[in-house]
Amino acid sequence: MHLLSIDDLSDSAVHTILTRALDPAARTTGPVEQLPVVGLLFLSSSLRTKVGFAVAGARLGAPVVEASELRFGLGMSAGETLADTVRTLTGMVDVLVVRTPDPLAEAAATAVAPVVNAGDRSEHPTQALIDLLAMEEERGGVESLRVGLCGDMQFRVVRSLLKLFDRRPPARLVLIGPPGRTDHGVPLGPALEERTEVRHHMAVDDLDVLDMVGLPEGAGEDFIAAASRQEFALTSARLAELPADAVVLAPLPVIDEIDEPGRDDARVRMFQQSDRGVAVRMAVLEHVLRLAGTASAGAADDLVEPDSSYPGDKD
Ligand code: CP
Repeated sequence: MHLLSIDDLSDSAVHTILTRALDPAARTTGPVEQLPVVGLLFLSSSLRTKVGFAVAGARLGAPVVEASELRFGLGMSAGETLADTVRTLTGMVDVLVVRTPDPLAEAAATAVAPVVNAGDRSEHPTQALIDLLAMEEERGGVESLRVGLCGDMQFRVVRSLLKLFDRRPPARLVLIGPPGRTDHGVPLGPALEERTEVRHHMAVDDLDVLDMVGLPEGAGEDFIAAASRQEFALTSARLAELPADAVVLAPLPVIDEIDEPGRDDARVRMFQQSDRGVAVRMAVLEHVLRLAGTASAGAADDLVEPDSSYPGDKD
């Protein structure tokens, strides 16, 4: 039968449905074993993060549902707020993954299920976790690495990375970018502060890891001319200066910050870095679901247990 109108429901059907819905078990269990549901709310452009979380959910056996816009329609004076949207969706799913150009923290305060930041105005924590994992798998424990971040230090992923580095400072951290783009605004502890250097020119001959985070041209007072942006691009000439055992990473997308010949250099490992995205996001989903206690016993048993330690745990 279709249910297109209340006319399609008998009185007895209305009674049966509402009685069943009143039963707490009806809200959390169904005819099949309950699996946690992953919600995706992506309000701005994304490829890797969105697909990465969708695949991570699928690999964990969790159904994934997706929304891509705030509710708005004819006759509405404004769209529904992010806070109301997050509150509504977290009443339906077990974890909500959100990308938004706006700050997420205030909206997340309304949530009744865990919210994972997939990139908001402030941070991009899962990308930073991928980047740290890539550095350590490619080159060893971060404490012994000379790491350069090149581009716009006001990027959300840089802020998240700096917070990770503050806990485990690299041997040396070099922030490379034009004046005005190296002010990241993240308070650094004394250990990281002491090891951090800001460079307004692109020298890469003393690095183990070079992370090309991107340098958009910006607008208004932030506008950077193409020639200035080119000074911070990774060209074949600059790759020749990079140590032979160094690696080049990039959170992607890469537009023109690494030139075409440079992309073929064996030290450029940005796609291998991206390949770690699903595993990291599976681990993130497992973690928040475990903390929230929403993974059912059966589903939790299916969640992947690591069979090897994260390299950073070896020290
Ligand atoms: N690195 C990153 O966040 O990529 P997407 O914007 O494609 O998700």
